[in-house]
Amino acid sequence: MSTLLVRNATILTMNDAFDIVDGDVSVRDGVITAVGGDADDGRHDTEIDARGGFLLPGLIQTHVHLCQTLFRGYADDLPLLDWLRRRVWPMEAAHTPASLAVSARLAASELLLSGTTTVLTMETVHDTEAVLEALGDTGLRAVVGKCMMDVDSPEVPRRLRESTRDSLQESQGLVARWSARPGLVRAAFAPRFALSCTRDLLEAVAALSASTGALIHTHASESPDEMEAVRRLTGMDNLDYLAQIGLATPRLCAAHCVWAGDAQQGLLARQDVKVLHCPSSNLKLGSGVAPVVELLARGVSVSLGADGAACNNRLDMFEEMRLAAVLQAMRRGPGALPARDALRMATREGARALGLSTELGSIEPGKRADLIVIDRDRPHLATAPDPCSAIVYSATGADVRATIVNGEAVVRDFALVRLDRDAVVAEAREAAGALARRAGVV
Ligand code: GUN
Ligand code: FE
Repeated sequence: MSTLLVRNATILTMNDAFDIVDGDVSVRDGVITAVGGDADDGRHDTEIDARGGFLLPGLIQTHVHLCQTLFRGYADDLPLLDWLRRRVWPMEAAHTPASLAVSARLAASELLLSGTTTVLTMETVHDTEAVLEALGDTGLRAVVGKCMMDVDSPEVPRRLRESTRDSLQESQGLVARWSARPGLVRAAFAPRFALSCTRDLLEAVAALSASTGALIHTHASESPDEMEAVRRLTGMDNLDYLAQIGLATPRLCAAHCVWAGDAQQGLLARQDVKVLHCPSSNLKLGSGVAPVVELLARGVSVSLGADGAACNNRLDMFEEMRLAAVLQAMRRGPGALPARDALRMATREGARALGLSTELGSIEPGKRADLIVIDRDRPHLATAPDPCSAIVYSATGADVRATIVNGEAVVRDFALVRLDRDAVVAEAREAAGALARRAGVV
């Protein structure tokens, strides 16, 4: 048995009543046992003094690509399809199991230090097992998909082209092996997007998701050029096409949906498809601004992600919360997406998207102890009449003092506990340069 106590915090529980209470949180064997008040129940194996800071549920990013973290800075200033063809696909093709592990450790370090405790990530076509293995040592909670790409296109490097059968077999194997293993990482299906996948593959993924219960993680309706290419190929709207194939279910996690029109918004709501909003990525690739206010008004689950470091170029969820709110202010007027809603998207909605609402997303007895402490002894957080406003509009990932996953402190006093930061940075520098040379992008 192990016990943990976080003392002296302002606790944003993110429970149904949105209670904010002062006091302590007690944890036993990774599970929250008490919230608020003085938990004066004897000694704990670990004690963390929040020093009056904010205590939040760990942030949940529902769309990232850990494998693209080494591509940071090698793929700037291009629109989506050129960015994929000229930079991202060549670099993914140049990955090895070793460089994937380095990329995953670098990403996990950045994510944990800035308060993200759970990710849904799409990796590359090969060697996804190396990512799952590497993550096991980091303490990050993750749902990991092997990227599926079975369209035989000359625009895609040969190494990323796979047969429909191999793609399905490998994905199915990962889902089976990693759902049987205890621990914080598991696998999902990850068909890249409509343009990379055959209809046969997508139909088979829909059937496998139904029989296994595994999530499907994809990109959809991200940019005008992609929409146009899907229409040329299928004669249909991107989301209508996915729905016709049978993919539009509560297990579908669809990144972006920037160009979901009125009919498609209705479809997303009816089918309880989960929308993964990535505001930084959408801005940097010039893709557009998603109709988040309209989606939320229809009851669609919209959660947040940084997307990859190749199109962001940070993995800081605080940036995504802030942008989610201020972009909707620009579209629909100030207050259209209040700070509180952005915070909900970053916590509870992330848990809902992953089908983990009973375990994650709020600070309540019985839930898993994924928690973060935000320092308040900083000029930009000195006055905070509204904690939601302070966290969404003022805080950044650098304000995260402590990160706890499953009851274990993996960041304390702004420093990684399990990982050696300097070693991670050094190996990443070396691996990124070598990978870029192999890919021919430098
Ligand atoms: N669409 C297909 N692949 C990708 C990817 O890797 N990133 C983004 N943002 N969109 C995509
Ligand atoms: Fe993406």
